[in-house]
Amino acid sequence: MKVLVVGNGGREHAMAWRLAGSPGLEVLITKGNGGTRSVARAVDTAASDIDGIVAVARREAVDLVAVGPEAPLAAGLVDRLAEAGIRAFGTDAAGARIESSKAFCHDVLDAAGVPAAGYHVFDDPDRAMAHLSSCPLPVVVKADGLAAGKGVVVATTREEALDAVRAQMVDRTLGDAGSTVVVEEFLDGEEASFMVMSDGDFVLPMATSQDHKRVFDGDKGPNTGGMGAYSPAPILDDDAERYVLDSIIRPTLAELARRGSPYKGVLYAGLMITSEGPKVLEFNCRFGDPETQPVLYRLRGDLFSAMSACADGTLSDVDLGFDPRPAVCVVLAAENYPGKPRVGDVIEGLGNAARIPHVQVFHAGTVLDDDDRAVTSGGRVLGVTAAGDTVREARDRAYKVASLIHWPGMHYRKDIAHRAL
Ligand code: AMP
Ligand code: GLY
Repeated sequence: MKVLVVGNGGREHAMAWRLAGSPGLEVLITKGNGGTRSVARAVDTAASDIDGIVAVARREAVDLVAVGPEAPLAAGLVDRLAEAGIRAFGTDAAGARIESSKAFCHDVLDAAGVPAAGYHVFDDPDRAMAHLSSCPLPVVVKADGLAAGKGVVVATTREEALDAVRAQMVDRTLGDAGSTVVVEEFLDGEEASFMVMSDGDFVLPMATSQDHKRVFDGDKGPNTGGMGAYSPAPILDDDAERYVLDSIIRPTLAELARRGSPYKGVLYAGLMITSEGPKVLEFNCRFGDPETQPVLYRLRGDLFSAMSACADGTLSDVDLGFDPRPAVCVVLAAENYPGKPRVGDVIEGLGNAARIPHVQVFHAGTVLDDDDRAVTSGGRVLGVTAAGDTVREARDRAYKVASLIHWPGMHYRKDIAHRAL
């Protein structure tokens, strides 16, 4: 059997690594990165090249295409694969709208009666600014479309909120993604991530997790794609998990099905656990990054079978099964990230890191140079992922391995998982 992983970041390295553990399965990956060679064969096709991916899937006769990032899902990769008779793990473009339009997402949540922040949608900057001049603060300004994690501004002052609208709607800093904005009520609480697999009917929850979005310790500094994650998230206890499944996930999936697009693939709910209970911050149509690294590290069941079952509508036969031991992922980032990162530095210490048990270093922004050395090529470079009998042990292990790794300008948060300790 053969599977093609689409994408080449940390999430996709974790997917390829876990898939490579399935007996008799050959793993291919689009482009790959400096860490994927031991688990997957790279094909020279970009994750954004839909025609190219369909052609590779045909030529290689792959049994399943497993899609990592949102952009190819939103661009209709899975629809195109279906037309070509190729099985895929991931939603079609209709389902991807839950992530690719925040206004659409709110509309679905309203119809489904799912708890979320109050909101207003604007496609006219003057109206947006008029609203912002009197609304309560803080307030959240979100570009409607896909913005690679750069579309959300949590504004504590009116000036910040107005600047965000000006940048997104007038200056179009995010292109068409900001032609419509959603202005949301600020929700206070602790965040958690909840991912499920769905085959269009049956829903299978995955292990819970928590991301760390801000770049600096103590949740200071600008938002990033995620500086670390751990799983499980203790704030989502059994009762909260049941509530999220019954009052958030199932009604959302039912509403999508009612609208004629039953959802297949992985659905990610970004939640705020408020004093009134969990509320939705966002839905993503894919695995979270870096949440996937600790979640898949803990996965005991067969990932290929589960992904295939999502495509085939047989998910009710699948037992995912997660290792009860927690896992912690610390992201090692390049100088200046989340701004334009310094790249091209040779990463030292990976050999020593690989000798530590219960740890996996997932690569994200790395490539191999001509001498097969891993070199930095992006902002989030590595995700050091470790398991332990306790969160403290997992965290200490991850930081021990992080201390063995070095390149000029490397930085990382020292407080990943502090809320679980
Ligand atoms: P999103 O991409 O919509 O999840 O937003 C990115 C981050 O912005 C979230 O993880 C939160 O930290 C923050 N955020 C988004 N929406 C809100 C909200 N309504 N209230 C408070 N914080 C928010
Ligand atoms: N870690 C947040 C996301 O994947 O969107």
